[in-house]
Amino acid sequence: MLNLVLYLFDISNHGYENITQKFYIVYLGDHPADHEDSAAQTHTNVLSSVTGSYSGATESMVYSYTKSFNAFAAKLSSDEAEKLSRMDQVLSVIPNRYHKLHTTRSWNFIGLPLKAKRDLKSESDIIVGLFDTGITPESQSFKDEGFSPPPAKWKGTCGQFANFSGCNNKIIGARYFKLDGTPDPADILSPVDVDGHGTHTSSTLAGNLVPNANLYGLAKGTARGAVPSARVSMYKVCWASFGCSDMDILAAYEAAIHDGVDVISISIGGGGASYTLDSIAVGSFHAMKNGIITVASAGNDGPSLGSIVNHAPWLVTVAASGIDRQFISKVHLGNGKNFAGIGVSTFNPNKTLYPLVSGADVAQSSESKENARFCAEDSLDPKKVKGKIVFCQFRSWGTDSVIKGNGGVGTIVENDQFLDAAQIFMAPGTMVNSTVGESIDAYIHSARSPSAVIFKSQEAQKRAPYVASFSSRGPNPGSEHILKPDIAAPGIDILASYTPLKSLTGLDGDTQFSEFTLMSGTSMACPHVAGVAAYVKSFHPNWSQAAIRSAIMTTATPMSHRVNTEAEFAYGAGQVNPRKAVNPGLIYDMDEMSYIQFLCHEGYSGSSLAPLVGSKSINCSSLIPGLGYDALNYPTIQLSLKSSKQPTVAVFIRTVTNVGPASSTYNATIRAPKGVEITVKPMSLTFSHALQKRSFQVVVKANPIDSMQMVSGSLGWKSSRYTVRSPIVVYSPGN
Ligand SMILES: *[C@@H]1O[C@H](CO)[C@@H](O)[C@H](O)[C@H]1NC(C)=O
Ligand SMILES: *[C@@H]1O[C@H](CO)[C@@H](O)[C@H](O)[C@H]1NC(C)=O
Ligand SMILES: *[C@@H]1O[C@H](CO)[C@@H](O)[C@H](O)[C@H]1NC(C)=O
Ligand SMILES: *[C@@H]1O[C@H](CO)[C@@H](O)[C@H](O)[C@H]1NC(C)=O
Ligand SMILES: *[C@@H]1O[C@H](CO)[C@@H](O)[C@H](O)[C@H]1NC(C)=O
Ligand SMILES: *[C@@H]1O[C@H](CO)[C@@H](O)[C@H](O)[C@H]1NC(C)=O
Repeated sequence: MLNLVLYLFDISNHGYENITQKFYIVYLGDHPADHEDSAAQTHTNVLSSVTGSYSGATESMVYSYTKSFNAFAAKLSSDEAEKLSRMDQVLSVIPNRYHKLHTTRSWNFIGLPLKAKRDLKSESDIIVGLFDTGITPESQSFKDEGFSPPPAKWKGTCGQFANFSGCNNKIIGARYFKLDGTPDPADILSPVDVDGHGTHTSSTLAGNLVPNANLYGLAKGTARGAVPSARVSMYKVCWASFGCSDMDILAAYEAAIHDGVDVISISIGGGGASYTLDSIAVGSFHAMKNGIITVASAGNDGPSLGSIVNHAPWLVTVAASGIDRQFISKVHLGNGKNFAGIGVSTFNPNKTLYPLVSGADVAQSSESKENARFCAEDSLDPKKVKGKIVFCQFRSWGTDSVIKGNGGVGTIVENDQFLDAAQIFMAPGTMVNSTVGESIDAYIHSARSPSAVIFKSQEAQKRAPYVASFSSRGPNPGSEHILKPDIAAPGIDILASYTPLKSLTGLDGDTQFSEFTLMSGTSMACPHVAGVAAYVKSFHPNWSQAAIRSAIMTTATPMSHRVNTEAEFAYGAGQVNPRKAVNPGLIYDMDEMSYIQFLCHEGYSGSSLAPLVGSKSINCSSLIPGLGYDALNYPTIQLSLKSSKQPTVAVFIRTVTNVGPASSTYNATIRAPKGVEITVKPMSLTFSHALQKRSFQVVVKANPIDSMQMVSGSLGWKSSRYTVRSPIVVYSPGN
């Protein structure tokens, strides 16, 4: 019998303090109950012992997880939750939390060239699962012309739902998860996508080729996913008003594992540093045990250091980079000056010039003057705005809607923070930096009748690649030993499919609709890498989750620390390189036990690992010795310095598996930053057969560096055909 009394946290700081009953997830001992029915029965029995009656239990039960997890979600008072946590069969009781989607604004596309080598038969057997806001079945990206019936391994389902025309041979699964009984008035109880996010991520990952895709003529080209022949299964877990809740995410994991998906793409915020409390970390661990790779977004809270989420070592954590294209709209002033602002404005002006005012000068009253500077709602005098272009400081999104609502013709927003990605405007609009903003403001206050015009947006070149300022940065708050993010992929101004159920901006009064749109966020970077994982898997169906990730990371194109001073904390191994990832030469492989040893080494107790491993008792004191500094065969190396006076020395142990030519030799190439000595033993690895393993040691000796500073180098294993590259990061954690 297990006797594990674990965490019981209060979520009152999440704004639910007035609700006396909350949702909790209750983990029980190891599942594989012989019968799903009897497991569900056990759940109800356990629950009724605290609710006092069977009918009380069935009423408060939301989900009974019986396939991958032995757990249930229920609405409970904190008393009931506490009682449950003291029961023998109960491993842990974790409050349900709500996650956010990882989109900021808008986006573009990399991908494989159209002519890239593909194994179409194998690709059409790949099933990608997305946990998102739903999908648009009518979209051209998901037509099933030329698709055979789903692969035999598929066990998922799809039905007729409200506003959802149903599945086909492309979208082979579509379900929604929301059983808590609180309907979302802004959403539809159906896998249909009323937001656009899920349609966008799905088409980026696996959408068909659609020629002539564009947004009002912008970004014109052939839209397509990384694996256009793969099948899509949508698990709708994110809801317009509520976000994405832990209990729905766990239910989706259970379904996806059972259904037989190969890759899971999850562009949703993670839940804190502890892996055993976070539904994405827990769910993806179970997926990993079943050979399924989960790719997740790093978050949009950059460039602050330590802002990264979804950093569990069994996740692929994706940062967002920019490509060489941006969207600008030119602003012409009455004094003849021209400026380039950032943003997507689809409107052609009707006049050569419009009167121009500053929001601060057209306030409704003297009290509203401070808000008027930001063109906040109800702060402006419509009589003074009508027919004019208004210059506003940035405070929140939607200034364009306020100006239009007041009868204005357009807006110029001054903003130094969000100039990476193009915002789509619902009326003529653009965003300028404060240098330009000051010139415009000076012009408004010096000219007798200031005027301006904003032209329709156009594409412009931009130096690339670089990591988006919004992309969350390391160091990893979950472990000082693992570098995160793992990889960078395009996530700025990505063009992909959109929903007909929402205007481009979603703002009141927006009349722009489009089959395709631009979005930006690590949300958009994530399906690019999930698509590459699916592409790699189509060539190597047997590779483990860790092998696929290793292939993606060790073949990445290095990025420049001159462009992004946070270096690997911004881009991990570098920019994803899909075609190279198929042939990495060597891989750093891992299995379930590797991760468990790592967690023990990190200080997790055997019993705290229950949500990950079930009741299988883990004895962390019987760890295999000799695992080296970080106890994990990770494809990157990170050393966190402990002393500000002495040099720190650490020995990393790694094992590579030969997946290249049977007979090959790799020599080590070391790049060490100043103040760091890196030695590798042995310096050469010789293989004589496929899947042969070789181990080596990397000794890193680093002089002290300032708090929160980092330096980096790399180890590359080079053969005549391959370079297998691992960044080596040395940093000093803040105290
Ligand atoms: C969804 O379907 C219902 C019933 O057919 C219909 O009344 C409603 O307008 C639809 N909603 C949307 C957003 O299409
Ligand atoms: C130009 O005129 C058309 C027709 O009156 C109107 O719909 C459109 O909004 C105008 N465009 C701008 C930028 O004012
Ligand atoms: C502001 O934007 C202008 C026009 O795009 C550009 O020339 C200038 O370098 C920018 N200034 C700063 C400080 O970014
Ligand atoms: C892949 O796995 C299957 C089933 O385990 C096995 O039969 C097959 O030989 C493996 N293929 C390779 C290339 O390892
Ligand atoms: C855990 O492993 C250690 C070392 O192998 C052993 O001494 C100890 O008895 C084990 N504990 C349990 C509960 O099995
Ligand atoms: C590896 O190093 C050995 C000895 O220096 C050299 O003979 C060999 O050509 C090298 N191999 C590669 C692939 O660089």
